[in-house]
Amino acid sequence: MTKKLLVANWKMNKGVVQSQQYAEDLRLYVEKTRLSHCEIVICPPFTSLEAVQRKINGSAISLGAQNVFYESSGAYTGEISTGMLKSCGCEYVITGHSERRSHFNETNLIINKKLMAVIDEGLKPILCIGETLQEHEDKITEAVIEEQLHICLAHIDEEAVKNIVIAYEPVWAIGTGKNATPHQIENTHNFIRKKIKKMFNEEISRSLRIIYGGSITPENSRDLLSPETVNGGLVGGSSLEIDSFIKIIESVKLNK
Ligand code: PGA
Repeated sequence: MTKKLLVANWKMNKGVVQSQQYAEDLRLYVEKTRLSHCEIVICPPFTSLEAVQRKINGSAISLGAQNVFYESSGAYTGEISTGMLKSCGCEYVITGHSERRSHFNETNLIINKKLMAVIDEGLKPILCIGETLQEHEDKITEAVIEEQLHICLAHIDEEAVKNIVIAYEPVWAIGTGKNATPHQIENTHNFIRKKIKKMFNEEISRSLRIIYGGSITPENSRDLLSPETVNGGLVGGSSLEIDSFIKIIESVKLNK
């Protein structure tokens, strides 16, 4: 069984000093407890990446970015390339988060370009997919996810897809306090695996890491993340306080 992957997405929160303190405290926890039951990734804002990397360097914690641009360099004021992220020590990059889709008009086509750039740089994308509330109510979740997978994973070969993590995040569950039920999560994860098998092959569909995101808290994490088909969680609000993120880490341990 693969280790569960827990990703802390801080979104637009924490300055450099706060970020460093958190990273230092998390490293202490990881080393004191000799944590080995799960893999931890923290995704600070761009401005804290380097400072956080200095604090977690050589530890079991990995660094991730929350977004990236697909061009490698040039006149793109305000954008950050995959090479820049790599130079800060990033290993993972969140791509296609629903907040990027809704606030910044990111389409599946743009996300596909980002995904390819991330892979070309040797980084690991965390591809976010999931249906909106309207799509959920219209019962078209599977059709939406199928389209997202087809477009976002276009031109990605079998070797490359092995390094992708898929985060199933129902948009209606993000930051709302409403979460999908373990049953809904399991069903959708199984559907994603079925599609991946069709697009790639059975081995990839079995080994691909698919995590869940959307209002994970220390109270519900054990239930939501326990099914075997759920390989971990993408945690927003509940990752901001280190105590609450540690409780989530501990709850995953109890699943073993
Ligand atoms: P949330 O965010 O845990 O605050 O719902 C999850 C996410 O945006 O990835």
